[in-house]
Amino acid sequence: DAAPLRISVIGTGYLGATHAAAMAELGFDVIGVDMDPSKIAALERGEVPFFEPGLPSLISRHVATGKLSFTTDLKAAVQASDVHFICVGTPQHPSSHAADLRFVDTATRAVAASLGHDGLIVGKSTVPVGTAARLREIVSEAAPAAVHAELVWNPEFLREGMAVEDTLHPDRVVIGGASPWAEERLRRVYDAALASGVPLISCDLPTAELVKVSANAFLATKISFINAIAGLCEKADADVAVLADAIGYDPRIGRRFLNAGLGFGGGCLPKDIRALMHRAGELGAYSAVKLMQQVDEINMDQRQRVIDLTLRALGGSVLNARVAVLGAAFKPDTDDVRDSPALNVAAALHLRGAMVTVFDPAAGPTAGRLYPTLSYADDLESAVRSADIVLVLTEWDEFRNADPTRLGALVERRLVVDGRNCLPVETWRDAGWEYWGLGHTSGAPRELVASRARAA
Ligand code: UDX
Repeated sequence: DAAPLRISVIGTGYLGATHAAAMAELGFDVIGVDMDPSKIAALERGEVPFFEPGLPSLISRHVATGKLSFTTDLKAAVQASDVHFICVGTPQHPSSHAADLRFVDTATRAVAASLGHDGLIVGKSTVPVGTAARLREIVSEAAPAAVHAELVWNPEFLREGMAVEDTLHPDRVVIGGASPWAEERLRRVYDAALASGVPLISCDLPTAELVKVSANAFLATKISFINAIAGLCEKADADVAVLADAIGYDPRIGRRFLNAGLGFGGGCLPKDIRALMHRAGELGAYSAVKLMQQVDEINMDQRQRVIDLTLRALGGSVLNARVAVLGAAFKPDTDDVRDSPALNVAAALHLRGAMVTVFDPAAGPTAGRLYPTLSYADDLESAVRSADIVLVLTEWDEFRNADPTRLGALVERRLVVDGRNCLPVETWRDAGWEYWGLGHTSGAPRELVASRARAA
């Protein structure tokens, strides 16, 4: 049949809202479904409960064109569409590293039970390998006997801050477990991307599930690799940023995701590598468990290293020191503070008796809800005013490009810890700052470098 496919998207969080808007942009009629009525009402007004460039305007535009609507009525949405994307969350289980699959199970069962005609159910959530096969059983139990219901897996690789762009222009389309009927339907959904040359990888269900977690595990491994090498660079008086440039020219290595610093956080990488560890353990794949444990451990150690650096810079104690923390989001260009290394460090210093003031260009309000005991400033100047030490913990452009002379006039002491290896060291030094960083000799103050050189 050549009638245009109609799409429902179950779950309108980060993944679902973006996917729904992108599908409308591609010309499909899309219904976004969520059980939270206030979320639905907000989305209908084009309001998105998180910071994602381009998404609110895309949603407003397609709510206005009528291509995109939102509802809490799952059954009606399913009956009015042909392809159903499952985009609900898979949070970390409250009592273990396993993924909590409650929402995926419930949503899949509800979609299957609501089918009024043939339907393709497409899982997009990040799940432990083996989940999709189990969901297939749920579908065959719950779907009415008269309809053809099929479940396939189609992982999503979007990055926060680039979500719309990544969804409209994916690097690849992965489809797991599709029959010819299902593959034909999904080819129509992704026609624009496929026509522009984006590769389609059609594989079995477990491979599709594992592609997603392996991609994230590899990215996490790259970051922990360079952070381990950063530690070696410090001991050997080498410079990790120059080293990363040099090894990155080898196309087999590649320069991206080789920035040493405070390490990774956010709603995906930490949770996904822990879920992978857990699932690999269940399946007896111990090399994967060991590797991911090391990646996680190196990553968490970076936070302690920045805390130690701060203590050293202040002569051993942060008690009663005024600490300006620049950055709260887990990375720049987002207001997401889930598992944020920056806030983790800020909270640890607060517990040690420092007077911490946090400033972030976007994440102040979300950070304030999660860590209400920290103080928050409305702008960079008020954050650093009278500070004994300044910590740069998220590499926003506003901090990279800040004028160290202007900031130097506001602080009590010109001490800076560059937790993201993102400041121009010499410019800050020339403006009279003592610079502490990770992964290079210039990370220690000049006197220390000089005395080390004399000792050698
Ligand atoms: C990630 C994956 O990139 C994406 O493909 C997947 O779908 C979801 O998880 P995201 O969580 O948005 O996306 O963040 P990402 O841009 O990957 O950054 C992750 C973390 O790694 C951030 O905390 C960032 O600061 C850190 N990072 C990144 C480094 O410490 N060094 C680097 O070189 C790169």
